[in-house]
Amino acid sequence: MKDSAIYLAPLQGYTNHDYRNLYHKYFGGVDKYFSPYLRFEEGKEHKKSVIKDIHPENNEDLNFVPQILGTNISIFIQLAKQFENWGYSEMNWNLGCPYPMVTNRGFGSALLQKPKLVKQILNDVFTKIEIPLSIKCRLGFENPEEIHELIEVFNGFPIKELTIHARTAKQMYRGVANPKALIPIINKSKASLCYNGDISKISDIESAKTLFNNNINTFMIGRGILKNPFLASEIKGKIYSKDEKMEILKLFHNELFIINSEKLEKSHLLGRMKTHWEYLSYMFENQHKVYKTIKKNKRLDKYESLIDKIFADA
Ligand SMILES: Cc1cc2nc3c(=O)[nH]c(=O)nc-3n(C[C@H](O)[C@H](O)[C@H](O)COP(=O)(O)O)c2cc1C
Repeated sequence: MKDSAIYLAPLQGYTNHDYRNLYHKYFGGVDKYFSPYLRFEEGKEHKKSVIKDIHPENNEDLNFVPQILGTNISIFIQLAKQFENWGYSEMNWNLGCPYPMVTNRGFGSALLQKPKLVKQILNDVFTKIEIPLSIKCRLGFENPEEIHELIEVFNGFPIKELTIHARTAKQMYRGVANPKALIPIINKSKASLCYNGDISKISDIESAKTLFNNNINTFMIGRGILKNPFLASEIKGKIYSKDEKMEILKLFHNELFIINSEKLEKSHLLGRMKTHWEYLSYMFENQHKVYKTIKKNKRLDKYESLIDKIFADA
């Protein structure tokens, strides 16, 4: 699997620049890092924290792609120019977010049912921007067949790469991904394809490659990497002992905790770390017990000794 390209999926609330940089320092194996989306809308200022997250200062050592979500053409173009000035070589447009607070405004996956509007936006944007544009989408909003008309639209433009999360928006994150739905698209899409959805172990990549007859060799992984941060480098052939993994994981965790304690209010710190542990606990054989113990603890002054004990017992 050494020849596969692996991308870290954008995961709002998890893969901010602190996570990305620490991930790169301790685990590696990822070829491209995507930011969680920057949402843009006429009359609304971008949040300072979001700008900070995508600023080159905070993504210096990464092969990094900022992701945007919205439909306003002039802001889209402004952002593209900003990314060009910052020296980025790619930006990504989100057509996959399934949450009503996004889709009710006509953004994210709501656009999957509006191929004419997508075409119009791409027409307006592509005449004005220099920076290569990639797209991340789903198979459809309601129906996985919707992707076919969208591919016709995408084929009219020099899309750098098309990542498809193999679910419909209606599915949200439920049920299983449907990689088979990509098979008829492989020969149709002019843009090179990246597969996304439910990759959590090396054999999932092997099965997907077989299914796609080796015609897709780029994979974006989200929750699989949150649960096993070693997955990308293992896919690239690296082998770790259990002790090595625990040692690296502990160093990663401790630095993440320090960075978060410098930035967050005390009242938010435990909550943020618990969010990470929802996935990190999968690295432990007694996953449920580990997560339950951490979730139950309400005292910040007890947190570090609790984590030391969890690692010591592993
Ligand atoms: C908590 C969470 C936040 C997410 N945030 C984003 C986002 O900001 N942009 C995006 O394109 N996708 C986002 N996604 C979707 C993931 O990038 C990915 O497409 C999805 O989780 C399927 O991949 P996986 O099975 O490897 O996790 C998010 C998913 C989750 C679970």
